[in-house]
Amino acid sequence: MKKFVMLYSLDDHKKYFLTITPEKIEKEKFFTTKDGKISLKEIFEAKEGNILKTHLGKKYIVFKPSLMDFILHKLKRLTQIIYPKDSAYIALKLDIKKGDKVLEFGTGSGALTSIFAWCVGEEGKVITFEKEKKFMENAKKNLEIIGLDKQVEFNLGTILEKDFSEKFDAVFIDVKDPLPYIKKATNLLKEGKFIGFLCPTTNQVSEVLKALKELPFTDFEICEILLRRYKINPDRLRPEDLMIGHTAYLLFARKYKK
Ligand SMILES: C[S@@+](CC[C@H](N)C(=O)[O-])C[C@H]1O[C@@H](n2cnc3c(N)ncnc32)[C@H](O)[C@@H]1O
Repeated sequence: MKKFVMLYSLDDHKKYFLTITPEKIEKEKFFTTKDGKISLKEIFEAKEGNILKTHLGKKYIVFKPSLMDFILHKLKRLTQIIYPKDSAYIALKLDIKKGDKVLEFGTGSGALTSIFAWCVGEEGKVITFEKEKKFMENAKKNLEIIGLDKQVEFNLGTILEKDFSEKFDAVFIDVKDPLPYIKKATNLLKEGKFIGFLCPTTNQVSEVLKALKELPFTDFEICEILLRRYKINPDRLRPEDLMIGHTAYLLFARKYKK
C-alpha cells in the first residue's frame, strides 16, 4: 500500500510532495522539511486536512495533492507542457467525459494526458502517442505517481504506423509538425466530435486551418487563454506584478458527416 501526499507549510505556503510506503517508513522514519523533521508514520496515518508538527514545532497540513498541484509542482518536465489554464479549457472544449476514448499526440511529459485521464475515468481510455522513448517513459512515471496510468495506453511512435480498429470521441494534437497527421486523425474521429490543436505560432494556426477547411469540419474556434493572478491581500487587492503573456494558440473544430 502506498500513499501520495502533499505537506503544506502554514508558515510560508511551501508544498512538499511525497510517496510513502510501509518500507519507506521502516527505512527512513522521518521526512525532513526546512523547519525540521516529521514522522513518516504520522504523515501516512494522518487524515486529509490534519495539522502535524515538526520536531521544532512548525505546523504542516497533510493534503492529498490535487491534479493541478501535481501538474504545477511535481510532474517531471522533460518537454514543454500544457498548463492547467490551457488544459482545463481544452478538456471542456473537446467535451471529454467519463467513459470517452481520447486520442492524443504527442504525449510529451504527460501533463495534458493526466487531465484527459482524469476526465475519462476508469471506464474510459486515453490512447497517447510519443515518438521519443525517454519522453514516453517519463510521462508514464508521472501518470503512475498521480495514479492515473491505468486508463492510459502509451504508444511509442506516430499514429501513421498504427492500425486502429476504433474511432475516438476526441482528438488532440500537440506536435511540432501536425500537417502530415491531419487526414488520418480526421478519419479516426467520430462524426459530431471535436479535434483540437496546440500551435506555437500564428503561421502554424493558418496552415492547420487551411488543411481543416478541406475536410468535413465546422464550428471553428481559435483562441489563447490569459490568466491573471491576484496578490492574496484583502486590504490591498491587486494583480500580481508579473504574468505570463503568452503560452500557445489553441485551435478547435467539430467534425460532421459528409
Ligand atoms: C510540446 S510536447 C507535448 C507536451 C504535452 N502536451 C504535455 O502537456 O506534456 C510535444 C511532444 O510531441 C512529440 N512528437 C513530435 N512529433 C511527434 C509525432 N509525429 N508523433 C508523436 N509524438 C511527436 C515530441 O517528442 C514531444 O515530446
